[in-house]
Amino acid sequence: MVDLPMPGSASRLSRRLPWERPWNRLARAVRERSARGLATIDLTETNPTRVGLAYPDDELAELLRRSAAADYPPHPLGIPAAREALAACLSTPGDAVAPDDLVLTASTSEAYSYLFKLFGDPGDEVLAAVPSYPLLDSLAALDGLALTHFRLEPGRWRFALDPGAIARALSPRTRLLILVHPGNPTGSYLTPAEQDAVIDLCAARGLPLISDEVFADYELTVPAPAAGTAALPEPGGERGERPAALRAGPTAARGDAEALSFSLGGLSKSAGLPSWKLGWIRLGGPPRERRRILAGLELVADSYLSVATPVQRALPGVLQVAPRIRSAILARLRGNLAALRAALAALPAVELVQPQGGWSAVVRVPRLMDDEGLVLGLLEREGILIHPGYFFDFAAEGYLVLSLLPAPAEFAAGVAGLARHLEALIAGAGGK
Ligand SMILES: Cc1ncc(COP(=O)(O)O)c(C=O)c1O
Repeated sequence: MVDLPMPGSASRLSRRLPWERPWNRLARAVRERSARGLATIDLTETNPTRVGLAYPDDELAELLRRSAAADYPPHPLGIPAAREALAACLSTPGDAVAPDDLVLTASTSEAYSYLFKLFGDPGDEVLAAVPSYPLLDSLAALDGLALTHFRLEPGRWRFALDPGAIARALSPRTRLLILVHPGNPTGSYLTPAEQDAVIDLCAARGLPLISDEVFADYELTVPAPAAGTAALPEPGGERGERPAALRAGPTAARGDAEALSFSLGGLSKSAGLPSWKLGWIRLGGPPRERRRILAGLELVADSYLSVATPVQRALPGVLQVAPRIRSAILARLRGNLAALRAALAALPAVELVQPQGGWSAVVRVPRLMDDEGLVLGLLEREGILIHPGYFFDFAAEGYLVLSLLPAPAEFAAGVAGLARHLEALIAGAGGK
């Protein structure tokens, strides 16, 4: 029998997402504060356009003005001039990027969606690390796929990847492996050894690899160990090791092992311009396979043609402006990271997991109460908003996540309040 909606009854929605998700306690508390007219220091803000950075607005407006002709030559993979400029910009001395290996999308999120459509049938799985970027769940679900997980190993200095954990989490329905590099929110880069192991595994199993590199431009310095303190050994990587780029290009090969790979990036992070709606996929792997995949991606992209042509025309100019915006963001991240480190220095029980790159920082706190209770208390008493670790699927309690983007004065006030709050909780718990 066909399940037709009754006249006057609500239409049936798909089961892809839980559409009417109740507000969580933290979101409710934020809303109530704002209804009562109370100010909140928001240390979860990751929108670069809302943190007081100076943008070259006139130059950007001029670029768009010059690109605004109505002429429309549809190019599903992106207009050639835009792909050429991007290829030149992404190329490094040992790794020339070919324009033909690039696909333009309206965002990195859309790039995920293209790849999910190309590789997954409804009910198939994509495998990603936890803790990780929370939107991946919805992105997979919206394309009818299930997101499965393997856990990263938390260490004192970084979160390490155990290739055995990936292998154990694979199922016959796993279609793609997703790595976020550097991780969000962990800030950890993969070590060369971890990368080799992942490429070997993907090549051996014919498993395509998505390498989300949206934060790759934001390397944060790692301080040398203080005099007299020994660097702690880490599983799978050393403290202070310089991050290596994940080899997702034609070099995603080790001997005979070559993995099909897709590095994702976009203007939203690399140029601090989320409103320009332009992301990209770079294909890597066996050349013949690449051509087949590109043809598939072209079909997907042709169904939407979603990247605005004026934005594509303006891309070569935007890529020239981008390094200035990036430098301002990087200076902001590094300054705030130093302020965070200083604010926590007097609290030996609280550990900053040193971010090697990216826009956020993870703080490990003693288990004084559940993380939600802690952040609700912080909001209520100090008017400071941070994320509890569960928002990013941390396996255990005792993790807090802060954005490193907020304006310096606000950030300094926020981390001072956080330190005060933690100090009071630790003292109340008998100083543990
Ligand atoms: C790891 C990661 N990937 C992708 C995205 C989405 O980027 P875009 O704005 O290009 O869709 C984000 C946004 O925060 C992110 O953190």
